[in-house]
Amino acid sequence: VTLRRKGSGRYLWACCPFHDEKTPSFSITPERGIYKCFGCGKSGDTINFIMEHDGLNYLEAIRHLAQKYGIEIIEEQQSDEQAEKQNEKDSLFIVLSFANEFFKEKLKQSDEGRSVGLSYFKERGFNEKLIDKFELGYSLNEWSALHKEAESKAYSEELLEKAGLLVVKSEDKKYDRFRGRVIFPIHNISGKVVGFGARTLKKDDKPKYLNSPESEVYHKSKILYGIYQAKHAIRKEDNCYLVEGYTDVISLHQSDIDNVVSSSGTSLTEDQVKLISRFSKNITVLFDGDAAGLKASLRGIDMILEAGMNVRTVVFPEGEDPDSYSQKLGTTAFKQFLADNTVDFIKFKAGLYADEASKDPIKKAASIKEIVGSIAKIPDPVQRAVYLKESSSLLDIEETILLAEMNKLLFKEKRQQSDIAKRQQEERGASIEAFIEQNTEKEPINNDKLISLQERESVRILINYGFNDIEEEFKLCNYLLQELEDVSFITPIYKEIVDIFKEQLAEGRVVDSQYLIANGSPEIKKEVADLVTERWEVSPNWNDKFQIFVPEEDDVLESVVLSNVLRLKFRVIQKLIADNMAKLKVATSEEEQDQLFKIHAELKKSEMEIAKALGIVVTR
Ligand code: GTP
Ligand code: MN
Repeated sequence: VTLRRKGSGRYLWACCPFHDEKTPSFSITPERGIYKCFGCGKSGDTINFIMEHDGLNYLEAIRHLAQKYGIEIIEEQQSDEQAEKQNEKDSLFIVLSFANEFFKEKLKQSDEGRSVGLSYFKERGFNEKLIDKFELGYSLNEWSALHKEAESKAYSEELLEKAGLLVVKSEDKKYDRFRGRVIFPIHNISGKVVGFGARTLKKDDKPKYLNSPESEVYHKSKILYGIYQAKHAIRKEDNCYLVEGYTDVISLHQSDIDNVVSSSGTSLTEDQVKLISRFSKNITVLFDGDAAGLKASLRGIDMILEAGMNVRTVVFPEGEDPDSYSQKLGTTAFKQFLADNTVDFIKFKAGLYADEASKDPIKKAASIKEIVGSIAKIPDPVQRAVYLKESSSLLDIEETILLAEMNKLLFKEKRQQSDIAKRQQEERGASIEAFIEQNTEKEPINNDKLISLQERESVRILINYGFNDIEEEFKLCNYLLQELEDVSFITPIYKEIVDIFKEQLAEGRVVDSQYLIANGSPEIKKEVADLVTERWEVSPNWNDKFQIFVPEEDDVLESVVLSNVLRLKFRVIQKLIADNMAKLKVATSEEEQDQLFKIHAELKKSEMEIAKALGIVVTR
């Protein structure tokens, strides 16, 4: 887009590339690296722009930008195998681009290319601009013209073969795949050549069109001829014409219709429909005028309906294809022809079968099934209802009958889908079980007991050292209670004692053992007496993992307190993890399970952090 600054503003303005407009409402804020169109509302950053504009996914957009600006991107999680594949792809693109330049050069610069290839294109009515736009070329009628040139440029034979340019029968029988043919390079969505279609110029030569074989960069089911040259027009027109041949695409461009792609003679695939749907939800299928092929082609359209696209059709007169007919009528008349003959697909199909059924009543039932089958593929129920009504009058059949037929189909479909869902459910169940098993201790620890012991230790520290100064005006009791703010004690007696500490501290008093013995309940008195007289003993039976750490207290008091807090929190977290796992075991809904997974991840993170801190405190 061409950007202009208005006055001294911080925005740059342009006509929006995403919708048709005459006055600029597309803005860019350079300092923030974002765009927004005030007309159509599209907005985003640089990468979004590339994604939207070129119809690329996130990764493709990143790669595109990196390549354009010579930035090396290192794909971190690429395995050696993947890296090798990427290298192979890059080499293929390079050799294909070399071949493309070679064919283009031969078309225009060689005598044979000019007299045979170029004059053929001219005869078909392709002008110079179109020849350049589609990068048309010519392959010399020799066995190894390309091979020799490639050799001189040090391209390996292996690469040429992988790219489908060289046919290798044996060590001394190798030859160029494309010889004496005009060349239609096939571009991917970002304009790189991935393969070639090549038309013979001799009458009885077979095949008429010779195509590159599949390669690492050319997957026929994923590529549409002309998509690179058509994508912007498809978005602007919000419609994509679908034709059969290379020449149909180019001739439509000649007639000033740029939103056209070809499936190159095969029926459309799901991936190809997805590719189109990045730019528009509307497809208009142009059918060659031969009645025999028509019905066979109709089935393929159901798949487009299933993808939620709106499908329209144009049928050409007998013996004509979009190429021949557009050349015959000329731009204006051809455009008018399209406008007059575009029919909604379901209506078109219903009409076709209605004709047939009226001639032969026996075929009526089959016709109903055909039409309803197509309607049932449409995901939107409102649209289905509209079509059902229309078809009812076209076929002269009661709507309720059609509805019953459709519900039967939808029900069958639903049952198949629920079978799939059930299987997925079972797989999910199995993986959750494995997850629980992995995250559950083999010999369960008595978390409650450990927590209780650690709580006791906290209370012991509070009672014995609460009064100690950590800093001026900051008692150990302040510090410990602050650290334990988010921990609620589970042992009633310790909770009670800690609560007394908190209450009194709020009043500015630090509790000590004497206060508790004087004011506490009989249970508290007993507990306090225990805690002040008896130093906690470490039982020799306890395994290292569970030991309560008791250093020479007075000199390392601060770290004793901190490690106590951390240990208590560590135990609490472990209990929460175990409780969460127990919940997961009995959870039934996916939502609930996902929620518990999230909690588990958070808890694990906290556990790690505490373990790390604990390591530092303990070893210090
Ligand atoms: P012209 O004869 O040049 O006008 O081509 P066309 O596009 O009208 O060809 P046609 O209608 O015979 O075929 C439509 C499309 O099918 C072509 O553009 C090719 O993509 C494909 N096709 C036709 N013939 C062959 C063939 O022999 N081999 C292969 N692989 N594809 C073919
Ligand atoms: Mn043709």
